[in-house]
Amino acid sequence: MLAAVAPASPAFGPLARAAIFLRALSADGEEPFYGELCEALLPDLGPAAAVADLGCGAGNLAFEIARRAPATVAGIDLDAHLLRWAERAAEGVEFEAPVRIDAGRFAASPMRVRPGLLASRLAFAAANVLDPPFGPGSFDLVTLVNVLDAVPFPAVALRQAVALLRPDGQVLFASPDSWNGGTTPPKRWLATTEAGWDRVFAREGLETLRRIDDLEWRLRDTPRLHHLYRVHGRLLRKR
Ligand SMILES: C[S@@+](CC[C@H](N)C(=O)[O-])C[C@H]1O[C@@H](n2cnc3c(N)ncnc32)[C@H](O)[C@@H]1O
Repeated sequence: MLAAVAPASPAFGPLARAAIFLRALSADGEEPFYGELCEALLPDLGPAAAVADLGCGAGNLAFEIARRAPATVAGIDLDAHLLRWAERAAEGVEFEAPVRIDAGRFAASPMRVRPGLLASRLAFAAANVLDPPFGPGSFDLVTLVNVLDAVPFPAVALRQAVALLRPDGQVLFASPDSWNGGTTPPKRWLATTEAGWDRVFAREGLETLRRIDDLEWRLRDTPRLHHLYRVHGRLLRKR
């Protein structure tokens, strides 16, 4: 049935996005980016810590954080289709996932998620990062990973993220700065250099605790088409 989804079908785009992120999530096609990012920047989080993953996609980062820390993680995204896959993955059992064979076809493949997931510590909801459904000061850590350059109003998304932090709360930020002009008009781009990001974060009352540059984030579109991004990241603290 998946093979019958033609490129012109409205289902093709959502399925293609899901296939990319599910491949990165699967035990076999694991993408090292999320682990490397956490290795470099994830702070120590205790059992009572609350994390919000804004623009979580299929939950790749949320899963990685939940594996590494006893915290609870709430992921929000506008893409309800991706979130449904994230919820299935969180159940921790094998399921059939779409796999891209080539530019025009999918197959269904059994997907094994790496063990160690605790669905009870993960929650996903369809919501807008520009108007998140959480009260101010609710989280110890808010993540904005590969998302600020993908929203129409990145300044609003960043301000909302900071508002969600408890005193001394932290932001885990990462971005390829790929700024798709169709999504984010150039006049709203926040920064394209490290010095520019320094100014943006300072304006929001955020100080940089740790930083990393040149992490590779690979999105496997088809077996023969991969997109490779260079991502910079920071752990920031609300002053
Ligand atoms: C490039 S993906 C990154 C996903 C995830 N953070 C990761 O690194 O795997 C950007 C995500 O932002 C989501 N997104 C874009 N605009 C959004 C908005 N206004 N509110 C919530 N999510 C949004 C998209 O649906 C997409 O899943």
